Amino acid sequence: MDLAQLTSDLEALRARAIAAAAAAPDTAALDALDVEVLGKKGGITAILRSIGALPPEDRPRLGAVGNEVRAAVEAAISAARARLSASELAARLAAEAVDVTTPGRPVRRGSLHPIMETAREIADVFAQFGFVVYEGPEVEDDVTNFQMLNIPPDHPARDLWDTLYLDLEGRLLRTHTSPGQIRVMHQEQPPIRALLPGRCFRYEAVDASHASEFFQVEGLMVDEGTSMADLKGLLDQFAHAMFGADRPTRFRPGYYPFTEPSVAFDILCVICNGEKCPACSRTGWMTILGAGMVHPVVLRYGGIDPERYQGFAFGMGVERIANLRHHVVDLRQYMEDDLRFLGAFR
Ligand code: PHE
Repeated sequence: MDLAQLTSDLEALRARAIAAAAAAPDTAALDALDVEVLGKKGGITAILRSIGALPPEDRPRLGAVGNEVRAAVEAAISAARARLSASELAARLAAEAVDVTTPGRPVRRGSLHPIMETAREIADVFAQFGFVVYEGPEVEDDVTNFQMLNIPPDHPARDLWDTLYLDLEGRLLRTHTSPGQIRVMHQEQPPIRALLPGRCFRYEAVDASHASEFFQVEGLMVDEGTSMADLKGLLDQFAHAMFGADRPTRFRPGYYPFTEPSVAFDILCVICNGEKCPACSRTGWMTILGAGMVHPVVLRYGGIDPERYQGFAFGMGVERIANLRHHVVDLRQYMEDDLRFLGAFR
């Protein structure tokens, strides 16, 4: 081994490494080249290992050549790295570019649940006649849900409401919004015009027309000289606002313990217009709410003197109103969270 041989080996290695750096297709190839030539077990180190076999005066000269080759290869690799990483970055930017001019995916707008929407429409109609919205609790007590509405314990009329009791102390889930009448009367002095929307609960076998959870809107008016004619006039306005100005209506005798007299309020069948179809049980009419003059006993429970004031009250199922307006036949659809159904109302 002589100096000339080792020097020419180093020169050859330099030429090969510089050519390889220039031809490297990517930075990974440069990393490999770096290890292969400059690494601890790389080409330069391998050649310099023979330095001990040279005469002492040649050793620094070979060392100098080694350092020079190392520096040249390092420079070639780093120049190639700079060039490749710039073009790799450019390629990545091109591949991952976001085209901000592409039209976006449409965002689905939410909408009110059809029951909420109907309840608000109902409230809007009565607001025009001065009715103010109140809310009562969903968890009621037996006294307010029944007794103060003239339904004593063990009264047969209790069968009208299949009740979900919460405990033995008389707490229950309200079966109707009528206990709100009592709460409003305790809270306000006549004249009273109150609207009470809310969720109600009954122990029901669920089918297309029965739910264990449903919404009602209750109305209460108390004033001097309030009459059945006022009730009929108001409900006519309501029916006409919701079902069309030419929709015929009628009162039919009904029964509720808390109103006397009591009525069912009907509109001409929205499906057959009185021709008698299955939807109206072949009567030609559909009942949309129950109503009546507030029973004097109930006024008294409300702290109001029935000798001086009269009142009327009405209560309706919001699902029923929504069904008739939108021709929905199965109540269960309101609870199924199917966006295709829920979004079909606007
Ligand atoms: N609370 C009655 C029901 O649930 C409806 C009603 C309200 C009737 C007010 C008369 C007066 O069926």
